[in-house]
Amino acid sequence: MGVSIIGCGSATPTQVMTNDNLSHLVETSDEWIRTRTGIQKRHLATTDSSLSELCTQAAQEAIAMARLAPGDIDLIILATSTADDLFGSAAKVQHLLEANNAVAFDLTAACSGFVFGLITASQFIRTGVYETVLVIGADILSRWVDWSDRTTCVLFGDGAGAVVCQGITDHDNLLGFAMYSDGQQHDALNIGYHGIEKQLKDGLTINQGTYKPITMKGRDVYRFAVEKVPEVIEKALFKAQLTTDDIDWLILHQANQRIIDAVAKRLKIPSHKVITNLDEYGNTSAASIPLALDEAVRQGKIKSGDVVATSGFGAGLSWGAAIFRWGI
Ligand code: UT7
Repeated sequence: MGVSIIGCGSATPTQVMTNDNLSHLVETSDEWIRTRTGIQKRHLATTDSSLSELCTQAAQEAIAMARLAPGDIDLIILATSTADDLFGSAAKVQHLLEANNAVAFDLTAACSGFVFGLITASQFIRTGVYETVLVIGADILSRWVDWSDRTTCVLFGDGAGAVVCQGITDHDNLLGFAMYSDGQQHDALNIGYHGIEKQLKDGLTINQGTYKPITMKGRDVYRFAVEKVPEVIEKALFKAQLTTDDIDWLILHQANQRIIDAVAKRLKIPSHKVITNLDEYGNTSAASIPLALDEAVRQGKIKSGDVVATSGFGAGLSWGAAIFRWGI
């Protein structure tokens, strides 16, 4: 059984924060943010929107594009690091979608989450266990940003993107993939738990607390991305028996325009093949790839049969790439 990706959708909050807005919050400037990152705005979730709702909106669009009904979905994989509920939000999304025949679970791999989710989905399809799988990448990182830390708060935005994958018998449109993690660098990018010891009874203690805001060793993550992303794309291309010339579109995790440009340059992929929307949304973590894919498909850039190379990278550290042919 092969895999085809037949629908996509996305959703972002309507509230927009510009670089100028940020310059009233922390010591920064539109010029610094634009030249160092390429970001001009980010969309931020308000108290009346939830991750589950953003996911549902994105998923509904993807299911409609695939010309399916929610009841056709067998499996929902929600890639997120910012679930509404620490036990996971996928089952709630299943409920909101009324995808009553699906099993749903969350997958956490930070900004690599969507690529890891897509690859996980394809294993269920290839083995014939499930036929139609919804993969959602979504994050509301604004909940976990330290809004007084200019080194991180300028980077992140909120959003959701989704794709529908389906089994096909005569070919496979997931052409190649590769995934990696390196826990030695686990402290490069974190939303770490912080608790304090609490005595329950004599001799019995537990630790209770919450998660601390995002911390990131920006330069280390930058260097890691510029080195590892071209490598992992080349590995996925090798498995696909393709070369960079065969790539019609490059969609990288939207972390920094300079990273995207450096990777494209190293792979010798011309800029007209590179899809970016970082200027509008900033870094939306697990949402960034399906969000950019959805925009490019709806703008008519990506057409059925085009070869798309994607790569996600981030906390873990983790990184992965998937090369696929869009459509049936
Ligand atoms: O999604 C997960 C993956 N994440 C990433 O891929 C992020 C990777 N890292 C990056 O994109 C970049 O490292 C950043 C955008 C985070 C930072 O850019 P940079 O060119 O590496 O800047 P830097 O950290 O080297 O800082 C340069 C200067 C520093 O001042 P000094 O020490 O040279 O005086 C910073 O304090 O810029 C200063 N700075 C700022 N200035 C104005 C840092 N943040 C800001 C800011 N506004 N927002």
